[in-house]
Amino acid sequence: AANDEFVAKIPKVELHVHIEGTLSPELRWKLARRNGIGVRLSTNKESKELQSLEEVEWAYGDVISSAQLPLYADRPPSEMPPTFFEAYYSGCEVLRTKQDFFDLALDYFANRAASMNVRYCEVFFDPQSHTSRGVSWEDMMGGLSEAQQKAEAEYGIKSEWIMCFLRDVSLSSALEHYREAMSYRDMIVGFGLDSNETNHPPSLFEDVFARARRDGFRITAHCDVGQKDTHKNIHYVASTLGGGAGADRVDHGLNAADIPELTNLITQKRGIGMTICPWAYLRRMTYQEMAIKLQVLISAGTKLCISSDSPAYMDDSWILHNLLLAKQMGNLSDGDVLSMMKVSVEMSWAPREVKADL
Ligand code: HPA
Ligand code: ZN
Repeated sequence: AANDEFVAKIPKVELHVHIEGTLSPELRWKLARRNGIGVRLSTNKESKELQSLEEVEWAYGDVISSAQLPLYADRPPSEMPPTFFEAYYSGCEVLRTKQDFFDLALDYFANRAASMNVRYCEVFFDPQSHTSRGVSWEDMMGGLSEAQQKAEAEYGIKSEWIMCFLRDVSLSSALEHYREAMSYRDMIVGFGLDSNETNHPPSLFEDVFARARRDGFRITAHCDVGQKDTHKNIHYVASTLGGGAGADRVDHGLNAADIPELTNLITQKRGIGMTICPWAYLRRMTYQEMAIKLQVLISAGTKLCISSDSPAYMDDSWILHNLLLAKQMGNLSDGDVLSMMKVSVEMSWAPREVKADL
């Protein structure tokens, strides 16, 4: 449709994409071969080893959210579909060398971002999921940085890195990784919080976020959709995280739409934005439920940046697919989508001169 062409062509900004979540079946298979390791599409040791690229592709289509686990209660362990986190962290296992990190990031920049006209992106990475396998900071940051430079030189795509702490790992590990990251501080624009939110509220990581804020970094945290404490967590992130003032953004946080006071805190009181990844939420709520929440935020004037999160594990749905879904759910015109893109630029942590150019 003509509309789709408009969305396909406009220059885009993406502020919530995990580089590890862009690992395609093809690249996963290639890196596994190169490193001489097998591929299981789950961290669950009972899951089957996959024997061909076709099997890997097929398994990617089978990723479920933990909320859907009860539907599979009668399956034997070897037949269980992987949950999102099982799939995502098992994917990390093929990332070993500097070349692997380079290939991963360049695949996103060159084959996805460039073809969808992404002009600027802020990309999350999860060091704790790599140092645990013995990957060095030098290889991880070296590979990411060279891909970033090549993306800018060859495709004109500008980008920044946001380092995430894994919330199901300890505060002391987060602090240790924060200290180690300071050798690469010029490569990092801000810090985020991801992984499994159940029983891991953002307040547990107050120390490391307060330190990051004092050191001049931007801060954000995931408030995943449908978590049991989601309203409490959104409130904490927006009002308090990072030394008492609250974060500079909320990642996801869609449930803020449920409570006028929360929408108001984010929109009026703080004026911060939220990154919204609609495709990810389809595993947790109906289309109609999501459309209503999205419309509440749009009418409230909340700053939103539609993004893809972990597209390889979310039905191969990249920023374009997420924008088209949001456009449909929000009944947005082409002009509305364009305005949203301008808001995304405003929400970004790009250096002033880059922002002025977007
Ligand atoms: N939520 C939490 N952790 C994650 C996500 C997410 O959406 N994507 C990658 N790690
Ligand atoms: Zn995310």
